[in-house]
Amino acid sequence: MSSNPLRVGFVGTGIFAKDVHLPIIQSQPTKFQASAAFNRTKAKAEEFATLASIDNAHVFDSLDELLANEDVDLVDALLPVEYNLETITKAVKAGKPIIIEKPIAATLEQAREIVKLTDATPIPVVIAEQFLFFNAISKIREKLPQIGEIISFTYRSTGPFYTSNKYLATSWRRNPKHIGGFLSDGGVHQLALLTEILGLEFESISALTKQVREESGADDILFSTVKAAGGVIGTFTYGSAFGAVEKHGSLVIFGTKGSIIFDFSAGKPHSIKLQLGEVGDVPDDITIEEFEEANPPGVLSEFENLYEAVSKKDKSLVKANPRKNFHFLAIIDAALRSSKQGGTAIKVEQP
Ligand SMILES: NC(=O)c1ccc[n+]([C@@H]2O[C@H](COP(=O)([O-])OP(=O)(O)OC[C@H]3O[C@@H](n4cnc5c(N)ncnc54)[C@H](OP(=O)(O)O)[C@@H]3O)[C@@H](O)[C@H]2O)c1
Repeated sequence: MSSNPLRVGFVGTGIFAKDVHLPIIQSQPTKFQASAAFNRTKAKAEEFATLASIDNAHVFDSLDELLANEDVDLVDALLPVEYNLETITKAVKAGKPIIIEKPIAATLEQAREIVKLTDATPIPVVIAEQFLFFNAISKIREKLPQIGEIISFTYRSTGPFYTSNKYLATSWRRNPKHIGGFLSDGGVHQLALLTEILGLEFESISALTKQVREESGADDILFSTVKAAGGVIGTFTYGSAFGAVEKHGSLVIFGTKGSIIFDFSAGKPHSIKLQLGEVGDVPDDITIEEFEEANPPGVLSEFENLYEAVSKKDKSLVKANPRKNFHFLAIIDAALRSSKQGGTAIKVEQP
C-alpha cells in the first residue's frame, strides 16, 4: 500500500464539497490531500482552493485539464448528476479512480451505461452513498437472525419542509433534470439504508407520489407498498415537504420469532429495540440499544472504504458500487411510473 496520501482533484466546488467532503479529507492527512480543483465558475474554485490550501496552478479551466494532471490520483466529483455519466467516462478513460455523488445518474439509461462502463474497467468507481456506511446497518444485521424469517417491514422517513435549507436554493434542484427531483435526491439515501439493512432487493413497487411544494419542482412525497426478494412485503414512505411536524425516522422489521424496531428520528439518540417471542402472549424478551451515528453520518467510513479500494487498486472492495446504486434509482423510477399509472405494481428494472 502506498504510504503517500492520495492527491484529490475536486470537480464541482459547491456546498457539499466545501461543507462536507473537504473537511473529511482534511481530517485524514495520511490518506488524502486536496490537490486540485475545477468548477464551472472559476472564482468559486479559486475560493475553494484557498480554503483547501490547493496551489493556484492546480485550479483548472476544464475537467480534461484536471484529469490530465499527473498530480491528481483520485477525482472527487460533486455535480448535478446529469453530468455523472460524462464525468465517469472521462475519468475512466484518463485512468483515474473517481468518487461521484448520488443518485448514480439523472436517468436509468445513463445509470445503465455507468454500470456497463464500470463493470468493464478495473478502475475503482464509487458512488458517494454514505447511508451504506451507517453504524445502524451492522448493528441490526447482527440481530436479524434472532427474529427468524423476515415476513415484512415498514419504513418511514418523514419531516417538515424547511425554507432555510440551503440545498433547496440550488437552481438545478428546483428545476431537476434528474428523475424524481427531491424524491431521488433524498430517496436513494433512504433506500440504500433500508435495502442494506434487510440485505434484500426490491422486486416491484406500487406507489403514489405527489408534489406538495412548488419549490421542489417535481413530486416530493412518496407512499408505497413493496414486494422484496424472497416474498418479503413492506411499506416505504418518504417525504420532507409537510407542514410543521417532527422529523420521524423508523423501520420495523417483522419476523417469525420476533421483531426489530429501529428509531432514527431526529433530536435523540438512535435506538434498536429487539423483541423476541414466536407469539405475543409469552413473557417479553426485550433489549434496547441506543447509539449515535458519526457526524456527519457515514461519510468518514465512506472515505475509508474509498481509500482502501483505491490504494489497493481493487475495485471489488468498493462498497457503494454503481451496480448497487443502480438499484436505488431503479426503485424511484419504478415508483414514479407506478404513480403515473394510479399505483399499479411496477417491476424494478435491473441494470
Ligand atoms: N451525499 C449527500 O448527502 C449529498 C448532500 C448534498 C449534495 N450531494 C450531491 O453533491 C452534488 C453537488 O450538490 P451541492 O449541494 O453541493 O450543489 P451545488 O452547491 O449547487 O454544487 C454544484 C456544483 O456543480 C457545478 N455545476 C452546476 N451546473 C454545472 C454544469 N452545467 N457544468 C459544470 N458544473 C456545473 C456548480 O458550479 P457553479 O459554481 O458554476 O454553479 C457547483 O459547483 C450533487 O450531486 C448532490 O446530489 C450529496
